[in-house]
Amino acid sequence: MTDKKVKVIADGPYQVTGGVALDLLRYITNHKGYSVDYDRMKKYPERETYFLCRCGDSKNKPYCDGAHKQVGFVGTETASHAAYDDMAKCIEGKLMDLMDAEELCSVARFCDTKSGTWNLIETAEKIVLTGVYFQEEELGAATYDAHTNTTDFIAVSRIPGSYHGTGDIFASTVLAGLMNDFSLNEATRIAVRFTANSIMTTYLAGTDHRFGVNFEANIPGLLKELELV
Ligand code: FES
Repeated sequence: MTDKKVKVIADGPYQVTGGVALDLLRYITNHKGYSVDYDRMKKYPERETYFLCRCGDSKNKPYCDGAHKQVGFVGTETASHAAYDDMAKCIEGKLMDLMDAEELCSVARFCDTKSGTWNLIETAEKIVLTGVYFQEEELGAATYDAHTNTTDFIAVSRIPGSYHGTGDIFASTVLAGLMNDFSLNEATRIAVRFTANSIMTTYLAGTDHRFGVNFEANIPGLLKELELV
């Protein structure tokens, strides 16, 4: 199998090589219309190389059927090369501003999950950023609490395992800390340690990543950290 690549053919389609999987997805939204997940509508047959229509006139989308030649498609790049800050409008929030360059949006809606980034900017008073690191060998989280005007950062050694469910475990543990009267910074520190310990437990057990993270084994330690036992 060759390296995964997308090549833009002049005045023609995208050439995709390397056996890249191709799926048709649709958004699943909650009762407020915010994206919460994707649903796979169709899985296209696996191919080492295929061509995706860029002109919009193919009768066999998403694949190219040669129609671009008949319609005289001109695929010259027209996108702006302006700096991001010059393209974006600034939406001022309580804690931070959001720079939003709508013309760069690919409508993947990753920024529209649960309650929407725009709403969070206007209403959030506590912020937790995950996946933060300053050195390659570490991974952690950073916080900002408007009530105490404090920031914090905690990192642990990066573990070479990756498992489903770690985000849920982390968020649930932060919430558990807050509900038990820990500060945002303390709750986040507890959550980082609990999540990392759970990932390490799963990694050392050699569990297949599809079975998710084993957090149960670390619950006794978590209860002690939360001063519940
Ligand atoms: S790019 Fe070939 S049909 Fe659209």
